[in-house]
Amino acid sequence: MRRVEIERSRLKIMENWKKVMEKASLEEIMKAANHQHLVVPAFNIPYLPMIEAIIESLKEIECFALIEVARPDINRFEARSFAAIKKEFDRCKDTAVARLHQDHVPVIDEEGKEVDWKLLVTEAVDLGYDSVMIDGSRLPLEDNITITKAVVDIAHPAGVLVEAELGAVMGHESGPMPPYDEIFASGKGFTSPEDAAYMVQKTGIDWLSVAIGNIHGAITGAAKDQKKVQARLNIEHLKKLAEKTGIPLVLHGGSGVRKEYVLQAIQNGITKINVGTEIRQTYEKAYKESGNQVRAAQDALKEKIKEIINQYYEMTQTARKIAEALY
Ligand code: 13P
Repeated sequence: MRRVEIERSRLKIMENWKKVMEKASLEEIMKAANHQHLVVPAFNIPYLPMIEAIIESLKEIECFALIEVARPDINRFEARSFAAIKKEFDRCKDTAVARLHQDHVPVIDEEGKEVDWKLLVTEAVDLGYDSVMIDGSRLPLEDNITITKAVVDIAHPAGVLVEAELGAVMGHESGPMPPYDEIFASGKGFTSPEDAAYMVQKTGIDWLSVAIGNIHGAITGAAKDQKKVQARLNIEHLKKLAEKTGIPLVLHGGSGVRKEYVLQAIQNGITKINVGTEIRQTYEKAYKESGNQVRAAQDALKEKIKEIINQYYEMTQTARKIAEALY
């Protein structure tokens, strides 16, 4: 192509990025993001009005993200139900910048109780969520694989993507946790690259949540209001996981990971980062300080979302960039 033609088609992309993104499947978007080393944050929603604020922010900065909801957002906070989230998402939605994900459906939950995972996954698929996450990480490898494969068989025929987890991302458990430095130094619970490759091959999952030093923010007791420990990441371990699996990898526990590690992780295979604690605390604080004004809480959240994407991840206009790669 001649230079002038290249320039012309580039300009056309700039005009058409929204249309390209609206038409693209989430699978295409995530693969393009992965190849370009662009991060797709996934924001947890414990309060319904957070959806509107996040989507407003994303439109403003032309970045792509996932809106996600997990059982604790519903049971411990005020997300109400998977259906309520979907309804609010549809009211605010702009598919050029956001899609909807069901986060963490555990087979065994943080209190050691069995969960009817099939019911919850089927509910999200029927409601029209774009992707779901089955978390069999508390099971032995073969059992995790069997259940994850069953979820793939439910979700994929409906065009819904599947995230799974292997390794132990701690923090949601109600009991005491070993000191963070101990977890990191020992590498205990880190995802095995060989097991990860085997799981991907056996199940056909789309994305894998890995344990490389990341931990979840607390969701119970006084700890849920406190600042999270600043996690580090083992980047050499991540490189092995990315090389062995070949699919987009997911970093849970995205709040408060040290910036230098996050930036390296994005360059080395992490495509999706789950962020819960940090945005929940921002919203709750502004809500309280404003005398329970939802708009004030939403405004504070909008600024936080922009700060996380533009300053912390150092990403700009990711939706445009993904569109450009897809065009
Ligand atoms: P944080 O609350 O630590 O950001 O983690 C969120 C998460 O991983 C949800 O799945």
